[in-house]
Amino acid sequence: MTEQLPEYQSLQNQLDLHQGMPYSPNWSAEADFIQLIVDACLRDRPKQILECSSGLTTLMLARCCQINGEGRVISLEDGLQYADNTRSYIDRYGLGGFADVVHAPLQDRIVDGMLYRWYAADAIPEAGIDMLVIDGPSGFIQKHSRYPALSVCYPRLADRCAIYLDDAAREDEQAIVAMWQSLYPALRHEYRATARGCSILLHG
Ligand SMILES: C[S@@+](CC[C@H](N)C(=O)[O-])C[C@H]1O[C@@H](n2cnc3c(N)ncnc32)[C@H](O)[C@@H]1O
Repeated sequence: MTEQLPEYQSLQNQLDLHQGMPYSPNWSAEADFIQLIVDACLRDRPKQILECSSGLTTLMLARCCQINGEGRVISLEDGLQYADNTRSYIDRYGLGGFADVVHAPLQDRIVDGMLYRWYAADAIPEAGIDMLVIDGPSGFIQKHSRYPALSVCYPRLADRCAIYLDDAAREDEQAIVAMWQSLYPALRHEYRATARGCSILLHG
């Protein structure tokens, strides 16, 4: 699969997922990012996880919720075929009670005075998001593609929430984190040097 193949296998073993994975070369999150969010999910036992972009991450987080015996992932996915594919794996593993993959096409949205293409927001919970995982929309769609996530979700976060931004080694994501920090100075930022970089922002 990738140079991190043993780490994916280790995740599969850890979570006892042996009926295939929705893996897509170059598109799936790297195993070290997934390990980070899996460890956080098993440790913090979030009740309401919102995820921007579906796939391997959705399957792994849903399985963590099943192991925890609580929690649910709502995964926003703009590509219909990717939403269907992720759902088929969720069904295959009997994890339907722990994940809801929502086809949320990208729409024009004004966010903090700027025009972005971002997910249709109907499925985003009104409140209580205690884990937010941001791995989409894809960077090629626009500059600062993932910026809207926090502005849209900030009023809907639980009192305590951990936000995980993948691909944070990229300049674009670093600029996004700087914009978020100036808007929400109370957020604490930790950077993890995973293969693609992960920014963790802690709220509350
Ligand atoms: C970086 S991917 C991450 C998906 C998910 N978080 C995971 O780890 O599997 C972000 C988005 O890319 C899109 N995507 C996935 N596979 C793709 C492919 N093979 N070609 C083009 N776009 C793809 C999907 O819309 C997905 O939501």
